[in-house]
Amino acid sequence: MTFQLPGQLATQPTPFYYYDLALLDQTLTALQAAAQPGNFQVHYALKANFNLPILARIKAHGLGADCVSGGEVQRALEAGFAPDHIVFAGVGKSDAEINLALAADIFCFNAESVPELQVLNELAGGQGRRARVALRINPNVDAHTHPHITTGLDANKFGISLQDLAGVVDSLDSLPHLELVGLHAHIGSQITELHVFAELSAKLNELQSWLEGRGHQLPHLNVGGGLGINYQDPDAQPIPDFAAYFGMFTQHLARRPGQQVHVELGRAVVAQCGTLVSRVLYVKESQQVRFAILDAGMTELIRPALYGSHHHIQNLSSQGVALPYDIVGPICESSDTFAKGTLLPETKRGDLIAIRSAGAYGEVMSSGYNLREKAAAVYQ
Ligand code: LLP
Repeated sequence: MTFQLPGQLATQPTPFYYYDLALLDQTLTALQAAAQPGNFQVHYALKANFNLPILARIKAHGLGADCVSGGEVQRALEAGFAPDHIVFAGVGKSDAEINLALAADIFCFNAESVPELQVLNELAGGQGRRARVALRINPNVDAHTHPHITTGLDANKFGISLQDLAGVVDSLDSLPHLELVGLHAHIGSQITELHVFAELSAKLNELQSWLEGRGHQLPHLNVGGGLGINYQDPDAQPIPDFAAYFGMFTQHLARRPGQQVHVELGRAVVAQCGTLVSRVLYVKESQQVRFAILDAGMTELIRPALYGSHHHIQNLSSQGVALPYDIVGPICESSDTFAKGTLLPETKRGDLIAIRSAGAYGEVMSSGYNLREKAAAVYQ
């Protein structure tokens, strides 16, 4: 498979996000086909991309929603996700956000500290409800990914560290408006070394037995998200290996009869269906470097500037001889660079450039810096 922009988009003003909904559908079909035999429940992490046309597809394939703000809970409800398929996670939930989610009677809050549990208890009591909670633990498992997107190490702000867990579980005895329904862990994102999910499973197995010893049966386990994608060669692997991913948990997680296992994937669902399409404004040859200056920048896609992330870049207009380019945006920051020394066919003003694998954490992280207009999103 090679990437092609639908012909009618060749005149669309740039920059814009193009979403291939057929690929999204194929990805979702593959995901559910891999999840269903093992009875895994998939919640989509809205933070990766919360555009309504995308959420509509995701909901149509029967996924639930993993939200990290009141805005995302509201968006999930607006997109038609049933409240009992919505989870609310996040290390800093405000009272207003908690109240909104309580009023909607969502499935579960993933809670991360005793102070948070106390507030949740009080607000649930105030609404005359009992809130279902899962404790987000910090399993201290190294996800072997970029330091900015590792979340399951002791040094990270996320989750309850294992040393503190006994105290947190004890605190539940005095919080009558909470019902413990599960454990939650998320160790990081863009994970390509799947053995780390075996380590995570082993930690969860230990904790589950320990909690059972204290009289807590857990109706569900949530193993988080994090499955990575192939940024180097999106056409070689447009659909992630979901079977291998679920296989890790089938093999290593000690599930109890009837217990639900939830995963909350974001990137693996939407990254490959999104492309940032841009035009070359200028080609500038300095003494040392040949720059292709695009009309898209870090305001549309900040991942290369923020994490040094690689996105595959293609010139859709030229077949010429390959030359090295630094591919940069128009923003007044040196970090506004998509790639350095990338080989592209000889490039000229007006050429269309595709920046691939941009469906996850692309448009949602865009900004209006330099008073830039928001790029359009088009769906085909
Ligand atoms: N669950 C929790 C608790 C999370 O924090 C995240 C992502 C996910 C699920 C979904 O993870 P995924 O399946 O997408 O890896 N902006 C960064 C990624 C930040 C991920 C934050 N948490 C990037 O552009 O790479």
